[in-house]
Amino acid sequence: MKKITIAIDGHSSCGKSTMAKDLAREIGYIYIDSGAMYRCCTLFALQQGLILPDGSIQTDELERRMPEIHVSFRLNAETGRPDTYLNDVCVEREIRTMEVSSHVSPIAALPFVRAAMTAQQQLMGREGGIVMDGRDIGTAVFPHAEMKVFVTASDEIRAQRRYDELVAKGEAADFQQVLENLRERDHIDSTRAVAPLRQADDALVLDNSHMTIPQQKQWLLDKFHEIAD
Ligand code: DC
Repeated sequence: MKKITIAIDGHSSCGKSTMAKDLAREIGYIYIDSGAMYRCCTLFALQQGLILPDGSIQTDELERRMPEIHVSFRLNAETGRPDTYLNDVCVEREIRTMEVSSHVSPIAALPFVRAAMTAQQQLMGREGGIVMDGRDIGTAVFPHAEMKVFVTASDEIRAQRRYDELVAKGEAADFQQVLENLRERDHIDSTRAVAPLRQADDALVLDNSHMTIPQQKQWLLDKFHEIAD
């Protein structure tokens, strides 16, 4: 059976990656978290002092140094899930901190960052058999994907999920701050000039505000079989 391309887009913290990861594992496809790639660019910029204390970005220097950023994913045998590596160093934990979250949207809005990440993503998906989640996968990275899903949920529910995730990892978190960060990211992601977050015309829409994880998983699997079988 031909392996298809699956694009899962949507707002921050709506559970896209959990759904996408589970689906990929279930059907034996590769899973790529494209947000992790933008988070790696942000971590690199922070590590190299290219984001100043006032939040401004040294864009010329970052653009010059883009070829130094190599992102890869490797399966973690213990968790059964892929971990993100920046230049061969596992940064799975570092890229999920509030510090990275609060700088990632302006970095992801830079056209040269998007061009570099989009090219890498298209290379990763050239054979099909891939589930990729993000903001512009169904619109810009794989506009011809056979299956596109646009996931959404209310902002309070999404903030609660992100807050619970941070607390579970032992990170200091403040609900109001998490909610504000999420709204700000939604705004930047949806209004940027290059590849903004928007629903593809041919995407299936899933509002998972009141769905359990097993229900979402089943919904996605049913849609996959309808399209791919
Ligand atoms: O999915 P996430 O929260 O880990 O994504 C981090 C940021 O990266 C998010 O604010 C928007 C950006 N992003 C993007 O612009 N395009 C993508 N395909 C994926 C993420």
